[in-house]
Amino acid sequence: MSGKEKEVTETSEAEIAVHWAEEDFIYPPASFIAQANVTDPSVYDRFSLENFPNCFKEYADLLTWYEYWHTTLDTSDAPCWKWFVGGKINASYNCIDRHLAKNKNKTAIHFVSEVETEKIEHITYQELYVRVNEFAAILRDFCGLKAGDTVTLHMPMVAELPITMLACARLGIIHSQVFGGFSGKACADRIVDSGSHVLITMDAYYRSGQLIDHKEKADTAVAEVAKENQKVDKVLVWQRYPGKYSAQTPMVEGRDFFVNELLKKYYGTRIDPVPMPAEAVLFLMYTSGTTGKPKGAQHSTGGYLAYVAGTSKYVQDIHPEDVYWCMADIGWITGHSYIVYGPLAICASTVIYEGVPTYPDPGRPWRIAQDLDVNIFHTAPTAIRALRKLGPDEPAKYNYHFKHMTTVGEPIEPAVWKWYYHAVGKGEAAICDTWWQTENGGFLCSTMPAIKAMKPGSAGPGVPGIHPIVYDNDGNVVPDGSGKAGNICIQNPWPGSFQTIWRDRDRYVSQYYEKYCKDPNSKRWQDWPYLTGDAAVVAADGYARILGRIDDVINVSGHRLGTKELESAAMTVAEVAEAAVVPVKHEIKGVEPDMYIALKPGISASEELAKKISQAIVTEIGAIARPRNVWIVPDMPKTRSGKIMRRVLGAISNNTDVGDVMTLANPEIVVEITKMVQGK
Ligand code: PRX
Repeated sequence: MSGKEKEVTETSEAEIAVHWAEEDFIYPPASFIAQANVTDPSVYDRFSLENFPNCFKEYADLLTWYEYWHTTLDTSDAPCWKWFVGGKINASYNCIDRHLAKNKNKTAIHFVSEVETEKIEHITYQELYVRVNEFAAILRDFCGLKAGDTVTLHMPMVAELPITMLACARLGIIHSQVFGGFSGKACADRIVDSGSHVLITMDAYYRSGQLIDHKEKADTAVAEVAKENQKVDKVLVWQRYPGKYSAQTPMVEGRDFFVNELLKKYYGTRIDPVPMPAEAVLFLMYTSGTTGKPKGAQHSTGGYLAYVAGTSKYVQDIHPEDVYWCMADIGWITGHSYIVYGPLAICASTVIYEGVPTYPDPGRPWRIAQDLDVNIFHTAPTAIRALRKLGPDEPAKYNYHFKHMTTVGEPIEPAVWKWYYHAVGKGEAAICDTWWQTENGGFLCSTMPAIKAMKPGSAGPGVPGIHPIVYDNDGNVVPDGSGKAGNICIQNPWPGSFQTIWRDRDRYVSQYYEKYCKDPNSKRWQDWPYLTGDAAVVAADGYARILGRIDDVINVSGHRLGTKELESAAMTVAEVAEAAVVPVKHEIKGVEPDMYIALKPGISASEELAKKISQAIVTEIGAIARPRNVWIVPDMPKTRSGKIMRRVLGAISNNTDVGDVMTLANPEIVVEITKMVQGK
């Protein structure tokens, strides 16, 4: 990593985060406790540091292994941890085959189309088994893929997505699902980095009432990949309506294939699941960091599956008879862990909803909940804020009852939490505010729903087996209850954690471990605290309030974006000399990006140019990254050494105090930019 990339911006999200006051405890309903999977507080003793790492056997034993492991945690290649070494397992087998004997007729997936008049599709475990097997045959026999190969998926929220993932897992093929809302160009970057030669996509999907042509993104992706001297040999195209092509873009002869055509040839084929070493890679999930290039978080098979199965049972409190709905997108880690792998590993019925929560109106989620009798609900603060704003009284109109609700992805304001609790949960549900990251595989902090009281605005203590610690910048421990914020780290490894950054071990070590490593030659896990990159305040009771990122990452509607990625996208416009992104508070999205631009000499600002820059960001990354505004400024506020003062720009965007700017090289520019942005 170059020195420049390492440079930290002056404004971190934590600095502008809401610092709300501590709230009082709210106790879980007795009705919830009476039925919960875990009610005994001794679970925290079982998962104490003294019992580490063997405590995680409890999670691994939820799975079916071909061969049991001989070493629970191998630290010899620290900090690349290996879990359940010697064990052999298959994720697809664990999510499907082993449930057939008793539950073949149970719904595995309820697929809910955005089009409300379309019937809900209920896919049983038997049907899932058949469809996964037949698709696995295409992967193996038509595409020639085998264990260890990578495949990129760029799919929307449809049942065919988990079918594709589980077919890959059946053969030990590493899947890399790219969020469907990302652009073709963003997909291409991830195809190149992962080394995939097969792209799996869908022709179209519904979003806000529009049937969107998705196949066109595949064409862009393949063309972009070619520029990097890599070739996508095959594009497999699922059809949103089997037998009918719903996209406008033509199929490319010899490259693009309709899955539904190919499937005919493999009717009835059954593919034995491949027993994989526990530490074999199950999937890659790309995420944003401090550099312009997204990084592939590499997740294992055995450790990951054990962790998501365990936390689905203990924290999500999923029982066999529950109807569980996580409204996240499978293109993000939440969907991988808590729509697909966790729930299916424990034989749950999981709901997949294709569309926008507020389409056609903000009563939609509650109608789905009522119709399917959903009793566990899982979503993000952004969705909760939008539903609250557009339909505060909607939940009361519908007859559904949640026993458990989850929030994930961003800090949730106490006022929003309370609406979630009272209006959505009708005061009957336990809420888990789950804090974690793409890299982690599963939850880090949350209350255990039947054991710990809830505290609005606080995620809670580490879940069993996760031992957080807060350090200041110099490596001193910030004690719980000190009221001071610091960098929240995890003292111990856990099975769900990523193994490394795909093909970039150095970056893995430097980004997550270097800062607080006690001895870089050590093979002891105790010497390698994991740096999450979040700032937090931990109260005397051990409950963590997450304040936001300490690096150049911003969290827009729960989507993680690197400011460098946005800035690099803006720099693709030839006229741009410098670009700086700052997060600005937004009522629904939490924050959104505000883009400041300085142009090359001789070029004048115009409305068209601002639009062109905004469009470049959408093309490079996707619509979720579209900035609030593109401010073309005469010059950036800079330190005397020439560093852009993002802190000052952030303050201007957020209407807060810019502080002392007299030491800047060009303090007069601050007045000018303030006038431009705030009109005063
Ligand atoms: O800043 C934290 C925030 O989201 C970041 C991780 O984003 P991502 O990798 O996309 O994963 C999101 C879903 C697991 C974290 O570093 N974050 C996540 N959950 C919470 C949160 N901030 C506050 N409270 C949460 N519950």
